[in-house]
This record gives sequence, structure tokens and C-alpha cells, in this order.
Amino acid sequence: VCLSAYNSFGLKAKARFFASVSHEQEIQQALAFAHKQRLPVRILGGGSNLLLAADINALVLHIQSRGLRIILNNNERVLIEAVAGEPWHDFVQWTLAQNAYGLENLSLIPGSVGAAPIQNIGAYGVELKDHCHSLDALNLASGQVQRFSAEECRFAYRDSLFKQQPGRWLILRVRFALSQKPQLQLNYGDIRARLVDLNIENPTPEDISRVICAIRQEKLPNPAELGNAGSFFKNPIISAEQAEQLKQQYPKLSAWPQPDGQIKLAAAWLIEQAGWKGYRTGHVGVHQAQALVLVNYGGASGGELLQLAHRIQQDIKDKFNVLLEIEPTIW
Ligand code: EPU
Repeated sequence: VCLSAYNSFGLKAKARFFASVSHEQEIQQALAFAHKQRLPVRILGGGSNLLLAADINALVLHIQSRGLRIILNNNERVLIEAVAGEPWHDFVQWTLAQNAYGLENLSLIPGSVGAAPIQNIGAYGVELKDHCHSLDALNLASGQVQRFSAEECRFAYRDSLFKQQPGRWLILRVRFALSQKPQLQLNYGDIRARLVDLNIENPTPEDISRVICAIRQEKLPNPAELGNAGSFFKNPIISAEQAEQLKQQYPKLSAWPQPDGQIKLAAAWLIEQAGWKGYRTGHVGVHQAQALVLVNYGGASGGELLQLAHRIQQDIKDKFNVLLEIEPTIW
């Protein structure tokens, strides 16, 4: 089966076996098949953080299970459970319609609920970990369902236990602790500026969601029009000492101190400084409006994208002595 419709880069790699599964029973049947055939299993959600570097000699399970429910609603606290195959953005909009707040800054992030904890999705000052209560995951080796508290998920910047143990877990459902009382996260200058433009003095979570959708639509290419996987590199975290040295050389360096004293740099700034923004070669390139986004202009292979990524990594290493880590999962 060709996977081009199942990954936001639009890459044409093939899977030896492919199954769309909507219920836990179907998941178990597919896993039994893979076990019998001695096939490895790969779990696919929205395919929006995935680079297909080659054909896949495995059973690819496309998770399409659905379900949303309010588990508990008292004293302003709302506990919500979402099943893995729910599309993330639709889920966020549904929470807002229930007056359950907290996820508004994560509006319009592509992908599915089940994939969201793997890289601890984050945007505009909020990360999934800030509102994740717990989740259930199937251990693919033992077939047992295991419950994880948020702490047990070992969330970190674009990272989790599940990202660290690829191929081991299938996330079934995720529970979120939300609030009926809005607690807006407005740290991002971009958001505040837009609220001023719109003359909104007392924004609601719905306003924040709309503003963030507008910002994302301007900066990030729509995968339906231009293949991409959002940010292609993580923002690198370096020592305060190295940041100080860089700052002397580049006074405009985009850098934010972290709680542990280290400094997070804007990878997009480094890539733009190095002259890559808007660069195009063959079928691939660096997006014109956001230097952190690599794009497939059509007909690219995963190898071509990786080659461009490696050239950028090498150049940033040479110019700034900073290591850029690739963000999407590579198959
Ligand atoms: N910048 C540039 N050139 C550019 C773009 C940005 O110099 O072409 C600089 C600017 O100084 C800007 C700073 O980089 O202030 C940060 O840019 P932006 O706010 O666009 O965020 P980002 O660091 O590029 C991160 C996340 C995004 C998330 C946004 C908003 C990562 C790897 N990426 O991007 O997440 O939406 O912040 O919070 O942390 C994703 O993970 O796929 C993703 C899109």
C-alpha cells in the first residue's frame, strides 16, 4: 500500500501490510496477524510528524478509533477522555464547546490525540504535559494495557517515554485535566499584538484559539497544498556559557532562558541567519515564511529531504557550533 495519503509530507513510500483499525478488537486482530507472520508493527496516527525514508517492511496500523467523553465535572475541574484516533484540532474545538479550557493554545496542531503525547506537542507557551492527566497504552510486546500517570510519561520538550521507546507502545486513550475557569496563557508577543489589532481587551479562550489559528495559517504551510511536517528541527538547548559567547558575536540571537538555567535558541533564527530561508533544490526546500519548516514541492523522496536536513545540520554546526536535532520520527 502506498502511504502518500497518510503522511503530511506526501511521500510515496510503501507499506508491505496496512490496516485501518477503529476498535480495540480490530487492533488485537491485526496484532495477532502480525505476530503469526512474524512482522514488525508500526503505529500511524495523522502522519504529520513522520518522514518516510524507505519502504516499510512491516504491518502499518492506521489508528482511527474514536470517542470523547467527560469523565468528571466538579468544582470547575473537568476531566476528559479522548480516544487515540480523534483528530487533535477537532478535539480541541470540542473541549472549548464543553467550556473546558486549557488546550486553546494548541489549536490547529495537525495529527491525532494518540500521537500528541509521543512528542509532547506544544505551541505558544503551552505543552500537552501541562494538561495531560493520564493515558492508557497497549504494550505491543506483552499485549497488556498499561495506565500511565502524566509523571510516568516522562514528558520533556518534544519528548516522552513513548518517543524514547519506539515500537513498544500503542496509545489507546488520553485523559486531560481541564478547567471551566479560563486561565489564559498570553506570554507570546504575537498573540498579544493580534488581540490589540482586533481590539479585544478581555479575550476568551475561543478568541485565543481563533488568533492562534490565524497566526499558524500565516506561518505554517498547509500540508494539503505543500507537503511538510511542521518544525523539522527541535529548538536546540545549550549552556548559558555558550549562549553568552554567541550573543557577543550575534547580538540579535533569539534565545530564551530555561528553568534549569540552560538557554533555548530559535533554530529558525539560526537557519535564517545561515541563509537557508527560501532555499530550494530539486523537489525540496526550506519554507519562505518559516525557516524551521522543510517542504516537499512535489515528487520528493524521504532521502532527498534527509539530505537537505543533513546539509543544514552541518552548516549550523560549522557556523554556530550548535547541533540541530531532527524532530519528526523517521521510518
Ligand atoms: N524566526 C526566525 N526566522 C523564521 C522564523 C522564526 O528568525 O523564519 C525566529 C523569530 O525570532 C521568532 C522565533 O524564531 O521569534 C520563534 O519562531 P516561532 O514563534 O515561529 O516558533 P518556532 O521556534 O519556529 C516553535 C515550535 C512550533 C510552535 C511554535 C509556536 C518547535 C520545534 N517548534 O516553533 O511547533 O508552533 O514554536 O509556539 O519547538 C512543531 O513542533 O511542528 C511546531 C510547529
